[in-house]
Amino acid sequence: MAKLEVTVAGIKLRNPLILASGILGITSGLMVRVERAGAGGIVTKTITKKPREGYDNPVFLELDVGYINAMGLPNPGADYFAEELRKLENFHIPIIASIGGSTPEEFTYVANKLKIPLVKGFEINASCPHVSKHGVEILSDRKLLSEIVSSVKSVSNNSPVFVKLSAMINDVVKLGEIALESGADGLVAINTIRAMAIDIWAKKPVLSNIYGGLSGPAVKYVAQRVIYELYNVFPDKPLIGVGGIEKWQDVVEFILAGASAVQLGSVIAKKGLTVFNEIIRGVKMYMEQEGFRNIEEMRGLAHRT
Ligand SMILES: Cc1cc2nc3c(=O)[nH]c(=O)nc-3n(C[C@H](O)[C@H](O)[C@H](O)COP(=O)(O)O)c2cc1C
Repeated sequence: MAKLEVTVAGIKLRNPLILASGILGITSGLMVRVERAGAGGIVTKTITKKPREGYDNPVFLELDVGYINAMGLPNPGADYFAEELRKLENFHIPIIASIGGSTPEEFTYVANKLKIPLVKGFEINASCPHVSKHGVEILSDRKLLSEIVSSVKSVSNNSPVFVKLSAMINDVVKLGEIALESGADGLVAINTIRAMAIDIWAKKPVLSNIYGGLSGPAVKYVAQRVIYELYNVFPDKPLIGVGGIEKWQDVVEFILAGASAVQLGSVIAKKGLTVFNEIIRGVKMYMEQEGFRNIEEMRGLAHRT
């Protein structure tokens, strides 16, 4: 019997499918729906110290190959969100809190507020492509990245800390190394990739913010490449793959490339929450057909050739 349970940096998941940050992980009611739909875990919307309103509409654009969004990290702020999480009762899947900010102090403020029993780990969002000083600028400043990671780790009460990376930075493996050396327990790749779209009738950019982040199938092969590169260098570290996953075959590909687990984002907007069970069934069928007893046996196998 193929087992889908995985343990990622000490966090036990009933299956390797985690809800990606920014997709439904913003209210307790939605998180309950995600748990019931079969997810192995949840990453919350990125939470900042102060509430953020986000950008004006339009903030979201559907493409043939995915989406471009520039929400602007709207969220209710750490104090409010901690109360929202406390409303969850009889909740059994692990929550990973995604935290954002631009200074180590802002990050540790949020981490301290969200240190509640249901939160089993933290994901540092160091890779938002469209909010000034809250994303890829952090990855571009190696000293700042290192300070943020070590300060979040120092207040995390030994909960695992993940750093979410961007494919927009050339030497993503080096940044992964800095994150791990600074105390991160694992890496998540990738966030959306900076993009834009033009409205030919209005003759101007579609999004109010001009630039947004590209997600969905358009980024899948980039995300897979990053996971493959990271596994090459850090085969023993927890790596979580995210980007364009829509079907069970995509999940198998990411695991063979080296992912310990994966996250689903845009596909939820396209197919709804039933996609969790649909993918789980497919992965299980594949594992049984191929004789894999567990996810760990499959992990990284694409590197043997
Ligand atoms: C509408 C939307 C909002 C997002 N918000 C966040 C966010 O708050 N924090 C974050 O780290 N990533 C955020 N992301 C990025 C996703 O978590 C994910 O890394 C990216 O979309 C690639 O995965 P996908 O192709 O499965 O969507 C967002 C993505 C979308 C589409």
